[in-house]
Amino acid sequence: MTAHAEIAAGYASEGAAVELGTVLAGGAVDPAARVRLPLAVVNRHGLVAGATGTGKTKTLQLLAEQLSDNGVPVLMADVKGDLSGLSRQGEESDRTRSRAADTGDDWQPRSYPVQFLSLGAGGAGVPVRATVTSFGPVLLSKVLGLNDTQESTLGLVFHWADSKGLPLLDTKDLRGVVQHLTSDEGKADLKGIGGVSAATAGVILRALVNLEARGGDRFFGEPELDPADLMRDRDGKGVISLLELAELRGDPALFSTFLMWLLAELFETLPEEGDVEKPKLVFFFDEAHLLFSNASKAFLGQITQTVKLIRSKGIGVFFCTQLPTDIPGDVLSQLGARVQHALRAFTPDDQKALARTVKTYPTTPHYDLEKALTSLGIGEAVITVLNEKGAPTPVAWTRLRAPRSLMDTIGDDAIRQAAQGSDLHRKYAETVDRESAYEQLLRKVVPPQEERAPEPPAPEREEPGLAEKVLGNSAVKSFLRSAGSALAREITRGLFGTSRKRR
Ligand SMILES: Nc1ncnc2c1ncn2[C@@H]1O[C@H](COP(=O)(O)OP(=O)(O)OP(=O)(O)O)[C@@H](O)[C@H]1O
Ligand SMILES: [Mg+2]
Repeated sequence: MTAHAEIAAGYASEGAAVELGTVLAGGAVDPAARVRLPLAVVNRHGLVAGATGTGKTKTLQLLAEQLSDNGVPVLMADVKGDLSGLSRQGEESDRTRSRAADTGDDWQPRSYPVQFLSLGAGGAGVPVRATVTSFGPVLLSKVLGLNDTQESTLGLVFHWADSKGLPLLDTKDLRGVVQHLTSDEGKADLKGIGGVSAATAGVILRALVNLEARGGDRFFGEPELDPADLMRDRDGKGVISLLELAELRGDPALFSTFLMWLLAELFETLPEEGDVEKPKLVFFFDEAHLLFSNASKAFLGQITQTVKLIRSKGIGVFFCTQLPTDIPGDVLSQLGARVQHALRAFTPDDQKALARTVKTYPTTPHYDLEKALTSLGIGEAVITVLNEKGAPTPVAWTRLRAPRSLMDTIGDDAIRQAAQGSDLHRKYAETVDRESAYEQLLRKVVPPQEERAPEPPAPEREEPGLAEKVLGNSAVKSFLRSAGSALAREITRGLFGTSRKRR
């Protein structure tokens, strides 16, 4: 048996699989020696890594296309708009033809069902939002850049608001509550929860103001994204949701934590699946190093736990980053599929990362891995996945197939147009007035008959300190003081500190 055939034998699968490409050994490719990722193990997660320009994004595109073809919905962060080409047919060229020949691919140009989303209002895609309450203190601390002490203080503030059944919809609401707790009237409440120093509260307030100044407040509020809108299909093809992040490059912490929030939401709402033939949804975390840099211990612990547990809900998570060492060891060890594009070895640090990467691969008689990892061509990768029995497949130097959709951005205007024509636009385009917090708070303290009365006209949008005013309202104050008020339904928090929804 040739090395090609020997390696490819390890990739045979009974069920459907994503065709990644074909085996390269001894400097030659064998178009019959297929490297595949069985759909049944996609929920065992994966990593796509490699230096800049080596083909990571095209690999994600390829994966998304075939998942969609198999009826699996996909959510991807589209940091540079690179993935928007999924919505258009690719262009045939000598390069696509020769790659198709190398990879045993009957390549045809194709387009895929895509929906464009953006974080909060103001982006090119349909705006998606989360409420502060739902986001919870752990994720919000990551966005605010709080340290462990400040994070636990924020946890106490949320706990207090939760126990009063007080919905924190936007950043202003949270600001109002922190201000209340540190005011003279709030002293008694503050004593009740304990452990909150005025200095720490001050830091949290400043961080909130900062977040608002960076435009982060656009993202918190209603209507909140319903995770079910990410799990759709069109004519049997899984819909690919692209979260457009060009405008948020300045605030990567927000987008990565938002994806984490979604994962937690899905975890809370989806039923246990056990072993699945194919995943229910696949998440791609591009620029994953942003998720982990400056992360608190609590945050890291919860990412690890979520990644571990979400598998049983039939959800696959793929991280994409330059170096595998960007991913904490506890998370890395959960990732069953590895698609490693070329690594650079210029500096001593590069060398160290390379040696560490080699150690994470199964041993192979066919390649000198250190050499292979630095000599891979563009659109080639060193791959190992899990087979259908859950055992690692042989290491394969792989030439990857070419995506069938456009390998380029379609541009902001086209993205905006597509978003505005989508059915999600109707549901999410309009931000519900910030004053909803005010109304909800009032609703808890007015008699039920009045609750049914027509809504009063919404106050001016820019009215300052509304939440603060609400909290200064004597009726609200007495409500806040009456612990265990019958009207207040306590908000419970699940994994990750996000609020728990009933289905
Ligand atoms: N599977 C592939 N088939 C055909 N061409 C490819 C493939 N992978 C990569 N290429 C070529 O290489 C170029 C760079 O690939 P890609 O944009 O995926 O790199 P990247 O690793 O995502 O880079 P960056 O880190 O800068 O985002 C593509 O524009 C394309 O021309
Ligand atoms: Mg890229």
